Amino acid sequence: MKFELEEVVPWGRNLKEYREMFNLSNNDLDKNIISFGDGPASFNSELNNLEKKCTSIDLIYQFSENELKERFEVVKKQVLKQVRNNTENFTWKSIKTPDELECLRVKSMSDFLKDFSKGKKEERYIYHSLPEKLNFEKQTFDLGLSSHFLLLYPKLGFDFHIKSINEMLRLCKEVRIFPILNLNAEKSEMLDDVISHFKNKHLVNIEKVKYEFQKGGNEMLTIQHNSL
Ligand SMILES: C[S@@+](CC[C@H](N)C(=O)[O-])C[C@H]1O[C@@H](n2cnc3c(N)ncnc32)[C@H](O)[C@@H]1O
Repeated sequence: MKFELEEVVPWGRNLKEYREMFNLSNNDLDKNIISFGDGPASFNSELNNLEKKCTSIDLIYQFSENELKERFEVVKKQVLKQVRNNTENFTWKSIKTPDELECLRVKSMSDFLKDFSKGKKEERYIYHSLPEKLNFEKQTFDLGLSSHFLLLYPKLGFDFHIKSINEMLRLCKEVRIFPILNLNAEKSEMLDDVISHFKNKHLVNIEKVKYEFQKGGNEMLTIQHNSL
């Protein structure tokens, strides 16, 4: 599906945040990881600097470095305005102020952009739209992550979520999704139905994590194949 640049929201987190959002241990970081809807997170580039393996997929990887940089400047103003207008939705514990949030997101974006062209050539950044099938064999990856993508946008619909998670489970031994809230920091409207759908044939759990920026957003959903 073709997306216009004006429709995308490049806004990314860093390795420390990913570690806290997904309870990633040192052992987990040595696994073969794929991160869905990874956007301009610096997770991939920081892992690559540590000589670890991560594949990121996102719609925004169809755009050039300059296009993403320009779009980020527009999005940055919009997102920070929303955050400043809704400060009560956030904890301000680890990230203390909107200015600190801006610095973190600028740094993630800049680390991502420095790595983007090299990472694309190395097929660490793959332009792809879920729930379309990816060109990898079953169980290629140990761990599949979704940060601030699935469950966060209920308007994507139940069908989209089920098909996307099915594709993630085809490729990965285990899937972790964070947060399990929607954009208003309320329990995601998709959560109960997604759990009911997968719990018969998979191991489904909600686990507490260290990360909490959206108030109450300190849990992740994990889905594993029953045979593990
Ligand atoms: C809020 S960003 C999160 C970025 C990153 N995961 C993080 O937490 O820092 C959500 C990302 O999901 C991507 N996305 C939305 N729909 C998608 C789809 N159908 N397939 C793949 N990526 C998608 C967007 O382009 C965007 O980069």
